[in-house]
Amino acid sequence: MTTEPLTVLVVGATGSIGRLVVTEALARGHTVRALVRDTAKGARVLAKEAELVVGDVTRPETLIGAVDGADAIVLTLGSFGTGDSSPEAVDYAGVRNILTALRGQRPRVTLMTSIGVTGRGSAYGHLLEWKRRSERLVRASGLTHTIVRPGWFDMNGPDDHRPVFLQGDRHRSGGPADGAVARNQIARVLVETLTAPEAAGRTFELVAERGSAPDDLGPLFAALDLDEPGTVDAVHDEANMPLADEPQGVRDDLTTVRALTAS
Ligand SMILES: NC(=O)c1ccc[n+]([C@@H]2O[C@H](COP(=O)([O-])OP(=O)(O)OC[C@H]3O[C@@H](n4cnc5c(N)ncnc54)[C@H](OP(=O)(O)O)[C@@H]3O)[C@@H](O)[C@H]2O)c1
Repeated sequence: MTTEPLTVLVVGATGSIGRLVVTEALARGHTVRALVRDTAKGARVLAKEAELVVGDVTRPETLIGAVDGADAIVLTLGSFGTGDSSPEAVDYAGVRNILTALRGQRPRVTLMTSIGVTGRGSAYGHLLEWKRRSERLVRASGLTHTIVRPGWFDMNGPDDHRPVFLQGDRHRSGGPADGAVARNQIARVLVETLTAPEAAGRTFELVAERGSAPDDLGPLFAALDLDEPGTVDAVHDEANMPLADEPQGVRDDLTTVRALTAS
């Protein structure tokens, strides 16, 4: 495991997961930059050691300084609404705007999406479909990535602390029966992906089962199959969202992101 401190940008830092990511990253000695829309909220909910950087992922011009010089980026965005607050604008285009703001810089990227992300459907403004498209952008970027798809937050049983990593995203009932995991466990996994070489290039669902958490997540990461280079879906995902049927703008974004990071 790499041990040197990194400069970590957390996007979604004031959220229920992001704030725990900030705490966890600071505890591991990293320098933490927190993207916030509202500095008062950031100051209220985040550790004072975190540097607050004001930005809005729907406004690309506000993101350049935030990403500049970051060694790693953790994205835990969540949307609630329509228009500029929609899943398309925040969960999808927000990730695109962060990637395009990089302008050739190559930080490590860890994206949190959701268990069941490969299910099709219009629930919550097509939330899962837009999150899946955001995963595709990250893979297409060619950046060293890890994509974590957590189960239901904090709905694990009191003795369920053993992280279980799954692939293929076959738990898609849309309820806690698909799996659950504690928020602080999610934050730990997200932060450990930044320094664990075995986490690179992998996508997995994260749930918890009865038992205790191991000291070292490395063997769990290493047991996972790698995403296939050059493909936009995760290894073992169902091929139920053909690129040929995707909106033209989404296909254009994939082309843009590939070109930006290849230059
Ligand atoms: N609940 C579950 O069981 C579950 C399970 C799996 C996955 N998920 C997914 O996990 C995601 C995150 O969860 P969470 O609880 O951490 O969400 P959350 O508490 O709602 O936090 C969302 C974060 O995104 C930020 N954000 C929203 N729009 C933004 C914008 N335009 N620019 C910059 N930042 C923006 C928010 O900032 P502000 O503070 O400024 O609003 C906040 O920091 C959700 O998308 C959810 O779908 C949830």
